[in-house]
Amino acid sequence: MTETDFDTISVKRLTGAMGAEISGVNLASDLPVQQFEEIRKALFTFGAIGFRDQNLSFEDHYNFAKRFGSLEVHPIVNGMEDFPEIIKMHKPAGVAASFGVGWHTDNSFFKKPSLGSIVYAEIIPPQGGDTLFSNQQLAFETLSNGMKDTLRVLTAIHSANDAYTSPTAMEKYDGDGPITYKHSDIIAEKVEHPVIIKHPVTGKEALYVNQMFISHFKGWTKEESAPLIDYLCAHAVREDFQCRFRWEKGSVAMWDNRMVQHAALNDYAQYERLLYRITVNGDAL
Ligand code: SIN
Repeated sequence: MTETDFDTISVKRLTGAMGAEISGVNLASDLPVQQFEEIRKALFTFGAIGFRDQNLSFEDHYNFAKRFGSLEVHPIVNGMEDFPEIIKMHKPAGVAASFGVGWHTDNSFFKKPSLGSIVYAEIIPPQGGDTLFSNQQLAFETLSNGMKDTLRVLTAIHSANDAYTSPTAMEKYDGDGPITYKHSDIIAEKVEHPVIIKHPVTGKEALYVNQMFISHFKGWTKEESAPLIDYLCAHAVREDFQCRFRWEKGSVAMWDNRMVQHAALNDYAQYERLLYRITVNGDAL
């Protein structure tokens, strides 16, 4: 599938590896079925898609997201009072960014990890605060046949424990900062996922490891697992698998967690950044 295979939207690829910007769409409107289906197709083809110059109310954001499936109320990160499905990702000027920083796929510590997130940008620093994405289907394809076969029979244990008990995370519990967390039993849970997953729509295989939430391989000790996990996590984010999304006020980005990892950059400490995120529930992998 290429940029020209779309009739109702314009698609421009971001890099040779992945990502696309879509134009000719007003996400605040009631999108015709064919146009919505082409957006969905673009997401599953390019892994991350971006839109410019949108003007979304919370209802518009919610209504667009709802077309992809049921919406998540995050078990740890508090949503907005009137829209519990919307997480206000606010970083005031003068503090370091601490949410979504570091490579990860959202919520791989869920039994059914999230399908993807839709993020709307309200306040963007004059420079910095980009989001990086890396194509995990390419990461899989570029491994040797021997490594692919080894990984196909491996299962990994994922957990939220380290990420949500780190010193920066601890500040968010019961605090009154811009992002707040609540205590949840899910933090102690350990869930199993295959190391190589098949995309539920396209059937394409992808590497499914991420340094934020993977703990160890099933049946292996943490010490035995660490060298292979380190190798795979480094391979997964090679520069030639990536694209970079530069936010503007009114930009919207959506990504498919079964196909990509992402990382928010922390390079704009002196500036404010405010984005709103809605996450669509996914299926067992
Ligand atoms: C995230 O949802 O992981 C963070 C995305 C961002 O702030 O760029």
